[in-house]
Amino acid sequence: MENKYISIAIDGPSASGKSTVAKILAKDLNFVYVDSGAMYRAYTLAVLKASLDPKNEEESDRLINKIDISFDHITNHILLDGKDVESEIRGNEVANNVSYIASYKNIRLFLVDLQRKIAKGKNIVMDGRDIGTYVLEDAQIKIFLVANEEERARRRFIENKEKGIETSFEDCLENIKKRDYIDSHRSFCPLKPAADSILLDSTKLSIKEVTDKIKEIIKEKGF
Ligand code: DC
Repeated sequence: MENKYISIAIDGPSASGKSTVAKILAKDLNFVYVDSGAMYRAYTLAVLKASLDPKNEEESDRLINKIDISFDHITNHILLDGKDVESEIRGNEVANNVSYIASYKNIRLFLVDLQRKIAKGKNIVMDGRDIGTYVLEDAQIKIFLVANEEERARRRFIENKEKGIETSFEDCLENIKKRDYIDSHRSFCPLKPAADSILLDSTKLSIKEVTDKIKEIIKEKGF
């Protein structure tokens, strides 16, 4: 039977604008939004809070099936064991450790299972790194959103500043380069475009231009 729900997968490297665009799209289309990166960040926060070492896979694996990660779909905030940790997961300590956590296969399987459960029976916009290639392989719309490193570092720097998180532009650039490398070189589900994804370069585009382009793609595909 044909799937009557629509899934939109938006993948791409750190700070390419995925979450901003995905959130707007979900709101405009009245779809549920899932920020899969926030789930890897929440797991990382839980590891740090439990004084486990995120660089140690065996230690990090200990929280699989022991913590509850969910979303408040009204605010789109992430909840860790029922507590809103949306701002806590955006800090430097989580940002600097999340790529290690995201490279551990068993943790990915735990979170992918949750992502699929959340998406089941809903119209969904999900953003991440492996949504079109793995998590929602059957998504009708797959976008791979890119932007050059300097532009992404600039965006992350401004975003952090607005949130009151202290970082320098150089720190943001370094963190982005490091995460790009780890995310695209891990063995299980690395960051890469799905064969049937549409590549969009947002370097010189505004948020509205990117969302409009994706809406055009959705229309062209007949949804
Ligand atoms: O999108 P983000 O920057 O919040 O993602 C945080 C980290 O989680 C990032 O380094 C890559 C990882 N991630 C992943 O491996 N797979 C996903 N589907 C989403 C994020």
